[in-house]
Amino acid sequence: MKILVTGGLGYIGSHAVVELLNENYDVVVIDDLSNSSRDIVDKIKEITGKDIVFYENDVRDEAVLEEIFTKHKIDAVMHFAGYKAVGESVQKPILYYENNLGSTLSLCKKMLEHECYKFIFSSSATVYGDPERLPLTEDCRVGGTTNPYGTSKLMIERILSDIHIANPKFTPVILRYFNPIGAHKTGLIGEKPNGIPNNLMPYIVRVASGELEILSIFGNDYDTKDGTGVRDYIHVVDLAKGHLSALKKAMNDEGIFYYNLGTGTGYSVLEMVQNFEKVNGVKVPYKMVDRRPGDIASCYSDASKAYEELGWKAELGLEDMMRDSYNFILKQNEK
Ligand code: NAD
Ligand code: UFG
Repeated sequence: MKILVTGGLGYIGSHAVVELLNENYDVVVIDDLSNSSRDIVDKIKEITGKDIVFYENDVRDEAVLEEIFTKHKIDAVMHFAGYKAVGESVQKPILYYENNLGSTLSLCKKMLEHECYKFIFSSSATVYGDPERLPLTEDCRVGGTTNPYGTSKLMIERILSDIHIANPKFTPVILRYFNPIGAHKTGLIGEKPNGIPNNLMPYIVRVASGELEILSIFGNDYDTKDGTGVRDYIHVVDLAKGHLSALKKAMNDEGIFYYNLGTGTGYSVLEMVQNFEKVNGVKVPYKMVDRRPGDIASCYSDASKAYEELGWKAELGLEDMMRDSYNFILKQNEK
């Protein structure tokens, strides 16, 4: 079976490609390298011993999509390509809507033209806005997103639903990720944000490795166990495996499906720092600062639907996430 993976050299996409190759799928990747690099193709080969077909192109380039769908018999698409920086999306909304919506529309159009109907989409817990209740189940209210990035995910979910209504064979599996962290255990692939990281884990590892001086904890007056923000962190390899389970569902069923991909457990920022220090035996200096605008107090999943319907649940724990995140950055710094 042949799978087209858009954004397949990025953080989550590259881990999904590894899992697909490990399960003997044929993989075609399209990635414009706007947030990744070509050497990931070699890293994937080093991990799996297998080759992918790689197109260095923008997903919005419909002539290239036409070539891909004509040349390869694509059975299903995993769509990871898109921009994801929340702060940047506030500054550059047009860029975000153009890329995130545009890439999805071009892709779906070409899929329908080529009678390819199975679509796995990278959505986000951000679509729930300020959670109606916790833990979040898939039937919780969506909306109230606070930035163009989050709104683009919500809009895409709606677009996929409309396409499905018009073409019932078109089967989107919408995966709402909670907070992916960690890296492949080889340390060969992981998350490499450009510049100063916005997200917690990439910031912690850079403080631990001495590249950044001190972690700022955004708020200690939330209504949570210790006042700091609570999130549902999930190992990226578990997340990648969730895509294979979603793919099997899509191949065997018709409809539109929504799943939370999380562990079901929330940890506070302070717990994350303490766990990181314990697992890796390093200090992470921190200071308390004001809340970050747009942040919510707590966000964690009820992940039982994915287990019941896909047979998937997260297997790796916080210790694996901490160890693998740090191992990846240490390996990067060796070079
Ligand atoms: P990433 O930036 O590492 O990967 C995205 C990849 O897509 C990059 O390799 C980039 O070069 C490529 N790309 C972007 N626009 C493209 C285009 N128009 N054509 C071709 N390639 C393009 O991001 P990630 O963390 O791996 O996220 C993957 C997906 O999951 C994204 O859609 C993101 O919004 C979503 N998501 C991520 C998180 C997270 O915390 N990382 C959480 C929820 C959802
Ligand atoms: N935090 C800090 N200091 C930092 C960075 C983060 O204290 O330097 C705190 C935040 O306030 C929050 C927690 O750590 O309480 C997690 O923050 P992240 O930025 O790592 O993650 P978010 O939950 O804010 O957002 C992430 C992705 C979004 C996605 C969302 C979905 O960045 O793209 O999860 O739940 F939409």
